[in-house]
Amino acid sequence: MRKDKDAIYRLQLPIDDEISADVLGDCLWVNIGDTFKGGLEAAQAAAIELADIHGCRHWLVNRRVNRGSDPLEKKRVCSPDFPDTWTARENGATFLLKRDEGVASGFFTDQSATRLRVADLSNGARTLNLFSYTCSFSVASALGGAAEVTSVDVSKKYLEWGRQNFEINGREPDDHTFWSGDARTFLRLAKKQGRQFDMVILDPPSFSRSKGNAFRLAREYPSLVRDCLTVAAPGGRVLLIVNLSSWSVNTLKMIVGSEAREIGRSYELEFASDPDPSTTAKSIMVRKAPG
Ligand SMILES: C[S@@+](CC[C@H](N)C(=O)[O-])C[C@H]1O[C@@H](n2cnc3c(N)ncnc32)[C@H](O)[C@@H]1O
Repeated sequence: MRKDKDAIYRLQLPIDDEISADVLGDCLWVNIGDTFKGGLEAAQAAAIELADIHGCRHWLVNRRVNRGSDPLEKKRVCSPDFPDTWTARENGATFLLKRDEGVASGFFTDQSATRLRVADLSNGARTLNLFSYTCSFSVASALGGAAEVTSVDVSKKYLEWGRQNFEINGREPDDHTFWSGDARTFLRLAKKQGRQFDMVILDPPSFSRSKGNAFRLAREYPSLVRDCLTVAAPGGRVLLIVNLSSWSVNTLKMIVGSEAREIGRSYELEFASDPDPSTTAKSIMVRKAPG
């Protein structure tokens, strides 16, 4: 049995876009793509073995289904006693995880190192977390000493989950802001009101649709980056994350460069994520010039 039975970590499997595996405390969570060799059956055998190696009592395999797949084909298989909800810990923070709220558990392990950076740079900060999902970056920032965290997501359900994540970490949700609505609208209002933030986190999905409003990352990203640079306070930081396999860290650098030029602001690059074979997500952090 491993020493820290609550720990969250991503397993470094042989490079394969079609499978990822996360240890989430007592539960091993495996995601496979539609074309994973051997399908659910092979992944189940791997999950049982990995759960044993990593001391997890429960395991689950989730298959991503592409459009055009057989709708009756099984999408999921798990150990019989897999819990509906449970908690696990990353970098000293506790997160509530759920089995049946969409394809994910409520937590993206591939951003563990980035959350740690956010926590380290949050002391006293006014933090804005856009597309916050269950508020894992918000919790990291609050625990890192942020003065106030604003979490923005179109889903009330995910923000409620985010509030629960604040509570289980001993942070009063009412001391912070949970704004439900379109992130683009929030930015427009924030600009109009002249609001400023010391840490802005931009981590949108590749595509989403809500209330008939489509969001396509490739189309929207440049203007979102520009708005984030605008609402960042002098000396404030903007963390940019994308999960598009066709985009590289250089794509992010180019977008931030040209948007900063458009609004006549200079900045310095604080870090760019090293390529990690377990994820297609890339991230960079920039710091707006003071004054
Ligand atoms: C990929 S997740 C973001 C992951 C998150 N940053 C994290 O660290 O866990 C996508 C989230 O974006 C939200 N979302 C999608 N479209 C949105 C929009 N136009 N405005 C605000 N939130 C949106 C979804 O509800 C979902 O919670």
